[in-house]
Amino acid sequence: KAGLLYFGAATDTPGQRERAPYPQSYAQYDAILNDPSEFGQTTPTNGQKWLFAEPQPRLFNFTEGDYVADLAHRTGKLLRCHALVWHSQLAPWVETTTWTPEELRAVIVRHIKAVAGYYKGQCYAWDVVNEALDEDGTYRKSVFYNVLGEEYIKLAFQTAAEVDPGAKLYYNDYGIERPGSVKTAGAVRLVKMLKDAGVRIDGVGMQAHLHADNHPTAEDLILTSEGYAALVKEVAFTELDVRIKTPVNETKLEWQKECYQKVVTACVKVKACVGITLWDFYDPFSWVPDVFPGNGASLVWFEDFSKHPAYDGMVETF
Ligand code: XIL
Repeated sequence: KAGLLYFGAATDTPGQRERAPYPQSYAQYDAILNDPSEFGQTTPTNGQKWLFAEPQPRLFNFTEGDYVADLAHRTGKLLRCHALVWHSQLAPWVETTTWTPEELRAVIVRHIKAVAGYYKGQCYAWDVVNEALDEDGTYRKSVFYNVLGEEYIKLAFQTAAEVDPGAKLYYNDYGIERPGSVKTAGAVRLVKMLKDAGVRIDGVGMQAHLHADNHPTAEDLILTSEGYAALVKEVAFTELDVRIKTPVNETKLEWQKECYQKVVTACVKVKACVGITLWDFYDPFSWVPDVFPGNGASLVWFEDFSKHPAYDGMVETF
C-alpha cells in the first residue's frame, strides 16, 4: 500500500482476548483477521513476551507465540516479533532473584538465544529492547538496568544479531513520536549509543498509543521519523491505537479519524517508514480500557463490528 511494506494488526491467542461480547464475535473477528485484503502483517500482543516464553528458568514455552506465528504463515502475513527484553510482563523469577552482572548477562543471552533462535527466519523484525526509557528520557530503572547499566541494551542487540541475522532489529517505545520531547531525545541517544559501540540496530518502533483529543500533527510525526531515519534504516508505527475519553461521540470519532490519518500520511511520506501495525483492531480486545480507565474505542472496529470513521479515513489517505 502506497510505498509501505505492510499495514497490519496485532492479535492475541483466543484465551487472552478479553470481553468477547457474544459467541459469534470470534468468527467475525477471525474473518477480518484472516482476510488478506485487511491486514498484511501481524504481531503477537503477548505470546512472545518473557512471562509466556520463559516463565521459569530454562522452561521455554512457545505455545502462545506460535498461535500468532502460525496464523501469520497461514494467512500470508508478515510477522513482527515482540519483545525480547522488557521490564514489564517479565517472568517474576527474573525480578526476584539477586543477580551478579555475570549471571544476569547469561540469563539475557540464554533467553534471546532460545526465543529468537526458535523463531529464527520467521520474524520480519524483532523488538529487541522495549521501553528502556523513562518519561524524562533517562534509562528506566529496570532489573536489567540496575544490574548492568546500558550494557544490557548492547548485549541484547548483539545477541539477537548473532541468533537471527535476517531479522530487522528494533528499539521500540511509546511516547517517542513527537520531535521536541525529552523522551524522543532519549531514544535518539539510545540509538546513537548502540551505533557508537558498533552494535547493529536496524529500526526504531514508535508504539504510537495516541490520544484522539491531543495528537501529534503529521509534520511532528514526519520530523520525528526523519530524525530516527538519519540514524537507522527504518522506522515503523508498531502499536498504533487512538484512545477516546468516554463517552464516545461523533466529534471525538472525527478527532480519532484525523489522528489515524496523520499516522498514515507520515508513514507514506517518510521513505524509511516500512509500515503501520494497529494494536489489535477490535475495540473489545483492546488493552486501553483496562489500563486507562475512562478511555476506550481506540481501534477501528466497534463491538458490533461496524467500522469507526477512521477506517475509511485511512483508506482515503493511502
Ligand atoms: C499490552 C497488551 O496489549 C495487553 O494485553 C497486556 O495485558 C499488557 O501489554 N506497550 C507494549 C505492549 O510494548 O507489549 C503492551 O501490550 C502495550 C504497551
